[in-house]
Amino acid sequence: MYTDALPFLGCPACRAALALRHDRRDALGEILEGELACAGCQAIFPIREGIADFLGPPRPPTPAQVTNEWPLTAWIYERGWRPFALTLLSREAFPYRRELPLMVDLMQPQRGGLFLDVACSNGLYARALTRTLRGAPGHVLGVDHSLPMLAQARRFARDAGLPISYARASAQALPVLAGQASGVAIGGSLNEIGDLDGCLAEVRRALRPDGRFVAMTLARAATAPGRAVQGLLGSGGVVFWPAGELSARFATHGLRTLDEQQYGLVMFHMAVPA
Ligand SMILES: C[S@@+](CC[C@H](N)C(=O)[O-])C[C@H]1O[C@@H](n2cnc3c(N)ncnc32)[C@H](O)[C@@H]1O
Ligand SMILES: [Zn+2]
Repeated sequence: MYTDALPFLGCPACRAALALRHDRRDALGEILEGELACAGCQAIFPIREGIADFLGPPRPPTPAQVTNEWPLTAWIYERGWRPFALTLLSREAFPYRRELPLMVDLMQPQRGGLFLDVACSNGLYARALTRTLRGAPGHVLGVDHSLPMLAQARRFARDAGLPISYARASAQALPVLAGQASGVAIGGSLNEIGDLDGCLAEVRRALRPDGRFVAMTLARAATAPGRAVQGLLGSGGVVFWPAGELSARFATHGLRTLDEQQYGLVMFHMAVPA
């Protein structure tokens, strides 16, 4: 957690502002330990080993979400799966050097301000957004409900020399004040987010009037075998939509889709407050 994130943080329970107390920082200025105290409901959220925890003990509900709590999943995710994922799922060459500029182009982080990487896992989009602030005054907050994923994300960011804040929180109760975010990115996570409407309502609440929402999501398969596999994943809590159906869901939460691209099963949406 870094000072740059603090003015934007809000209590996920009552939405009031938070005050930092008892903080201990390292030479890089990262807040390693401390607590965030809510001015409204008096809740206290600890910061431990650099990560603010807004969730406490409860565990995520679906089997797909539980696997992300395993340290092994967190270790393997960006080492063994993520670099190849879009190439396999789109059935065309889709390395990071194609995916990340596409995401950044949709988000335009050089506008500056606060950007959220929601359900960030190891923080791939958070690092790409931070690298492309290009000197603009801005900061990125990565949010996930898995502590092992966040701990790995923080290590990757520190190893890369990137000051990124991380918080353990739910996508359905983001720890930010309303109308403050220049952008919200969700990379590959809407499929397993749980309550989609709760998440989209939070994205809309977090965004500034000129904010942007960029989502990379997996589409519903067109073939019978693909549907069968997706049906099995469905029992684990993973859901797939056709592109138009997803943008219609965005619209019900006041998010107007301006750009929609699809490559095989991989969809990119860019939406703005309506
Ligand atoms: C497919 S991975 C994310 C990939 C990552 N965004 C990327 O682009 O590499 C899904 C992540 O979503 C997180 N997640 C799932 N549901 C969540 C929720 N409701 N709130 C917060 N995090 C959630 C999981 O812990 C997991 O780390
Ligand atoms: Zn509160």
